[in-house]
Amino acid sequence: MATRHKSPKAETDQRRGTEIQAPKGKLGVMIPGMGAVATTFVAGVEAVRKGLAKPIGSLTQMGTVRLGKRTEGRSPKIKEFVPLASLNDLVFTGWDLFEDDMYTAASKAGVLERSLLDQIKPFLSTVKPRKAVFDQNYVKRLDGTNVKKGKNKLDLAEQVRADIREFRKSSGATRLITIWCGSTEVFLQPTAAHQSVKAFEKAMLANDEAIAPSMIYAYASLMEGVPFANGAPNLTVDLPVMQELSKQNEAPICGKDFKTGQTLIKTILAPGFKARMIGLNGWFSTNILGNRDGEVLEDPGSFKTKEESKLSVLEHILQPDLYPELYGHFTHKVRINYYPPRGDNKEGWDNIDIFGWLGYPMQIKVDFLCRDSILAAPLVLDLVLFLDLAKRSTELKGLGIQEWLSFYFKSPMTAPGLYPEHDLFIQSMKLKNTLRHLRGEGLITHLGLEYYD
Ligand SMILES: NC(=O)c1ccc[n+]([C@@H]2O[C@H](COP(=O)([O-])OP(=O)(O)OC[C@H]3O[C@@H](n4cnc5c(N)ncnc54)[C@H](O)[C@@H]3O)[C@@H](O)[C@H]2O)c1
Repeated sequence: MATRHKSPKAETDQRRGTEIQAPKGKLGVMIPGMGAVATTFVAGVEAVRKGLAKPIGSLTQMGTVRLGKRTEGRSPKIKEFVPLASLNDLVFTGWDLFEDDMYTAASKAGVLERSLLDQIKPFLSTVKPRKAVFDQNYVKRLDGTNVKKGKNKLDLAEQVRADIREFRKSSGATRLITIWCGSTEVFLQPTAAHQSVKAFEKAMLANDEAIAPSMIYAYASLMEGVPFANGAPNLTVDLPVMQELSKQNEAPICGKDFKTGQTLIKTILAPGFKARMIGLNGWFSTNILGNRDGEVLEDPGSFKTKEESKLSVLEHILQPDLYPELYGHFTHKVRINYYPPRGDNKEGWDNIDIFGWLGYPMQIKVDFLCRDSILAAPLVLDLVLFLDLAKRSTELKGLGIQEWLSFYFKSPMTAPGLYPEHDLFIQSMKLKNTLRHLRGEGLITHLGLEYYD
């Protein structure tokens, strides 16, 4: 017999929400790669804690979530709606092949003003890099001395695990998160070595070149039950072995490649064109940047990894298969130019050739004078807090990939066989609906017919 009601179980689950442990004690944030993004994030957290600045750009700190009908007027702050760790409970460590502490590294990165850095110098100078797992074959333009030595890659992974355990103990943290803010590694593709934990461990013992340093940190974290987020376009956790470990050890994963600057704008504009059935002939994007990231990306191997990540966005948003007349033949080019005078202040130029009614062409030019690390730092904060939430949630912690965090990435991870959602607004709705679901609130569909009954 047809019924208009949901199953009783679904209704109860929906009302009750799911179990989430309270965020008691300190949350330890571990960062491989203490460069521009990492130092801007940590310095920013401390500046906010001291009341020196505001956490602009962070959804967890500034965002709200609408609950119930539009007439109910319920829009709590996200941080009051779900139990997130407080900024005061964050403690930090990191790894880098350069020996600079966070104050020195932040000064060299040149993102934040000296006057701000000096006010938080005592705190920033205490965050010193642990020795890195590094191999120049994977990042050609860097060479540093603060590097671990080991018999093989498994031995290096054991050393990272020992670092994690040491930090857990010395910091007194009750929970830990790892977030990769290290350089972009050369382009790699999955091989047999990445297909299972057993194969991966065997390959590490044999020093298989398919295993990049970022994967060693990821393996070590997941083995220790620590969630891992990947801010670079490297494969890192986008591999069956990591998904297996993540589920097995209830350590959520997400990635990859922070969605900032040019790609952020692209994923804001492209859904708008598609919504209005405006055609696209071409999109030419060029970047001018002068920070260390730009220098690393001068290497063709690292650039290829970044290019793949940046290129996939339009194909997925515009769905040429569904709209061949509008999006079947567009040209998409992305260039990155290392230009030292610009430092971290990137210029992202976009020339967009669109066409409208009867095929008439038009052009849009976007010149985004952005600040890369200023855009990335709040994403790091949100990812840290949301991954910790996922780890404390009975429903999310065993799922492996946290697709609801796609909002933050250029190349979001999905379950095998699913295409990724790149549209920023779908991603935002997915994230907020996940939070509503966790707290047993009704999901928002924006149907709204009930207001006209
Ligand atoms: N800033 C953004 O908007 C943005 C957006 C998307 C992705 N990213 C990615 O985030 C990463 C960090 O960017 P950034 O601007 O801070 O770069 P950066 O060069 O300033 O910092 C990266 C740091 O990682 C270190 N590093 C490299 N390999 C390492 C290893 N194996 N172990 C430990 N440390 C290692 C480097 O020494 C460097 O200090 C890059 O991969 C970049 O592509 C940045």
